[in-house]
Amino acid sequence: MQLSTDYMGLTLRNPLVASPSPLSKTVDGVRRLADAGVGAVVLYSLFEEQLRREAALNARLADAGAESFPEALSYFPDAAKEEPGPRAYVSMLERAVAAVEVPVIGSLNGVTPGGWAGYARAMQDAGAAAIELNIYYLPGGPEVSGRDVEQRHVDILARVKAAVTIPVAVKLGPHFSSTAEMALRLDAAGADGLVLFNRFLQPDIDPETLAVVSTVGLSSPAEARLPRTWIALLRGRVRAALAATTGVEEPADVARYLLAGADVVMTTSALLRHGFGHAGVLLDGLSQWMARKGFATVDDLRGILSVAPGTDEAAYERASYVSALRNANTSAYGPW
Ligand SMILES: Cc1cc2nc3c(=O)[nH]c(=O)nc-3n(C[C@H](O)[C@H](O)[C@H](O)COP(=O)(O)O)c2cc1C
Repeated sequence: MQLSTDYMGLTLRNPLVASPSPLSKTVDGVRRLADAGVGAVVLYSLFEEQLRREAALNARLADAGAESFPEALSYFPDAAKEEPGPRAYVSMLERAVAAVEVPVIGSLNGVTPGGWAGYARAMQDAGAAAIELNIYYLPGGPEVSGRDVEQRHVDILARVKAAVTIPVAVKLGPHFSSTAEMALRLDAAGADGLVLFNRFLQPDIDPETLAVVSTVGLSSPAEARLPRTWIALLRGRVRAALAATTGVEEPADVARYLLAGADVVMTTSALLRHGFGHAGVLLDGLSQWMARKGFATVDDLRGILSVAPGTDEAAYERASYVSALRNANTSAYGPW
């Protein structure tokens, strides 16, 4: 069975990629993910807030006339206690790259164009095989126009593309008036990969404590339908590689994404739920399914259930909506 896959020009031994999570926060975690069989690892994100904090610290150090960083840190005991910043991230990335055979992808999380480029370059210099831009942007202000939100994505990508020579993927959210046009704009702006989709954390409300509760819930396979629909629609319409993220729980979920047209399939929740070894379960199950269906390579099956270019996409989606409702009316839920 031939699982090897091209992703943004990188050769992966298989299409299963560990997406950013606490599992890829340490070199040991990255090693365990690679040992479990994944084709590549995307590190947890370096956050824009961490970049700003380090810049502020540097400014304070300069003001204090500090001569060496470790000595200077003792002037700022609070800063020393803060969570690891960009330098620690880049150092971890460098050690992770040395520790594993599979490509290690760095991840930058932010919503403004400034400040990223230098760190993208530092990640490249540390050996990152590629960079994933995790644009986690929820425009809460009602004055922000849709076009501005889109332009912000393009500007962030352009800044980073100008700073590095390694491939750059954009992990974007699903909430655009025209998601496909956004994907095409990012493609035209040079995105080497599109990671569909960022999963926004939606705070809950606890009626007992009368408080807003922010928690990171793990995904369920039903959530894969939205990214899968867009991957099926974008296949063959963009030059960028397509990476699927959300809702991969079992081998059939990997197969579904590949059939829709994903170049690689990412997983986080399932690994957090079942442990590192679950990557092997997903890969073994994928191989068994391919053997059962007579597919010798991943390329043989990739995209065979995508929406063929030349199809009237709007009519296609409308037809599937109408037929689904018609079936619901006459079968399980009907007649109404
Ligand atoms: C605890 C946790 C931490 C995460 N941290 C990051 C992160 O740092 N950067 C990022 O791009 N995505 C992050 N994600 C999102 C995942 O990479 C992934 O895109 C998302 O969970 C959907 O995939 P899944 O259904 O396989 O979990 C995180 C997810 C979880 C559950």
